[in-house]
Amino acid sequence: MKAVVISFISLLVGQAFGFELSESSLKRAKEIIKKMTLQEKIGQMTQAERQHATPADVKKYALGSILSGGGSNPTPNTPEAWKKMVKEYYDYSLESKSGVPLIYGVDAVHGHNNVLGATIFPHNIGLGVANDLELTKKMGEIVAEELKATGIYWNFAPTTAIAGDQRWGRFYESFGRDVEMVTELSMAYMQGLQQAGVLATPKHYLGDGGTAFGHDRGDTRLNEEEIRAIHLKPYIAAVKKGAQSIMISFSSINGEKMHGQHYWITKVLKGELNFQGFTVSDWNGIEELEGTYRDQVKKSVLAGIDLFMVPERWKEFMTTLKELVLSGEVPMARIDDAVTRIIAVKDAMGLFNLDFSTEHSFGVSAHRAVADKLAEKSLKIVKNENVLPLKNKRILLTGKAAMNTGYQCGGWTIEWQGVEENVPGATSIYEALKKNGAQVTFINAEALPLINPSDFDVAIAAMGEKPYTEMMGDIVMGEYPYPDRTPYGYTLDYYSLHPEDKMVMKELKKTNLPILSMVFSGRPLEMTELKNDSDALILPWLPGSELNLIAKKIIQFN
Ligand code: BGC
Ligand code: BGC
Repeated sequence: MKAVVISFISLLVGQAFGFELSESSLKRAKEIIKKMTLQEKIGQMTQAERQHATPADVKKYALGSILSGGGSNPTPNTPEAWKKMVKEYYDYSLESKSGVPLIYGVDAVHGHNNVLGATIFPHNIGLGVANDLELTKKMGEIVAEELKATGIYWNFAPTTAIAGDQRWGRFYESFGRDVEMVTELSMAYMQGLQQAGVLATPKHYLGDGGTAFGHDRGDTRLNEEEIRAIHLKPYIAAVKKGAQSIMISFSSINGEKMHGQHYWITKVLKGELNFQGFTVSDWNGIEELEGTYRDQVKKSVLAGIDLFMVPERWKEFMTTLKELVLSGEVPMARIDDAVTRIIAVKDAMGLFNLDFSTEHSFGVSAHRAVADKLAEKSLKIVKNENVLPLKNKRILLTGKAAMNTGYQCGGWTIEWQGVEENVPGATSIYEALKKNGAQVTFINAEALPLINPSDFDVAIAAMGEKPYTEMMGDIVMGEYPYPDRTPYGYTLDYYSLHPEDKMVMKELKKTNLPILSMVFSGRPLEMTELKNDSDALILPWLPGSELNLIAKKIIQFN
């Protein structure tokens, strides 16, 4: 098995898969730039959020890019409405004076997760457990297909973070702690996306997963040698394999914010690694820098950021950058370099001739089958003392995640922070068990004291963390250095079961039924007590919309 995996990897390593920036793309970009005004060039470097800029703005200001933030969707939230919206922005961009097409970006981190009815894949933490390069690549292809169904060709994924501390609110966005594994899986995901024609964005450059105390947007305290041996590794692979856009991290290295780091962005990434594509800043990321807005714009442009995610303040960004160029503080050559990169990538991607009429499939069962397979492969069975298989047993099912699919999907699902309600199209563990022929009865947590235990052979408690994203999910111990941020207030108590789940366990224990605990979580939690209290314990991480094969597995268990 190992030999097969290794030969597959060496196959991948040998080959680039991307939108190679050919001489002709660079030449075309340079020709276009010759005819552009400073204002138009700055427009190309600007990315606004869809709620803050209209298609008419795209034409008027020659904006280079629009994004949908987490949970930002058209009404109705259907693939058709998305496509109509994106096409309208695109059509207006072609009508701008320079005629350079717009690039529309979105976070399709585990499926096209902002759109109702999308296939939701396991979050990266589960994909790391599954560790299946072929299926991860297949996932990339499917995510690309569902993106194209909405007219979108740019994905802010994969996250290549090498996660160090599970207190980090983005721990689940990482494939794991192992440098090689993170590199291979993220490259498999990127390959799937790019070979299907969607631009990937390895993120967040550099050291996002290594911050002290697991603080999101925090400080990675490592020397250069360590940074290179750990956090730079996925980017070395990504550049070799044709990554053409890379997102800069909110975090710092040794106290210096990445958005201002000329050394790592220009010298190392663009110089040493010879990255020819464009860098994109993170959401208001330039505002992480010190000083006035003018200082922030200046420092980040000079550091080597090419495209600016300035979701709301895009007009102010444009005037500020223009002033900086006119005053000579930002050289015209830096602007030309940024715009050449952006336009060359757009050309290489074929954005100048997009065809919106092609049909693409969305949320279909063939896509869901791959997500299901990945969910099954990511399942960790920690303990099983005569509980599995569940075949022929009368099952009592309880817990907040039993019939509510928001928990199993986690953050970056429908909303930026995820939802605590059903995700359309997703299958709950209740439905999956039923579908696979199990004898299962759902009992509300409040009703547990009223049941007659002899009606059942086994109890399943479906529990988990409340969905979260970014700093909201940080588990904070001691002092939190960011008074302007509001984590959910997770303290060490949340390092194990959440209070409502503890209540469920307490009630279940009174029944004397054998207990199977199933915990959906974005990180490994402290589980000594739960493990003792359970006869079986299974960890599906954040598996996404499909639980059919997991249900089948625990029913048959052979
Ligand atoms: C996140 C990025 C994401 C961006 C756009 C930021 O808050 O850090 O990962 O791509 O928002 O939604
Ligand atoms: C957006 C996200 C973004 C975040 C950054 C949210 O309002 O929806 O996409 O990542 O802000 O703070």
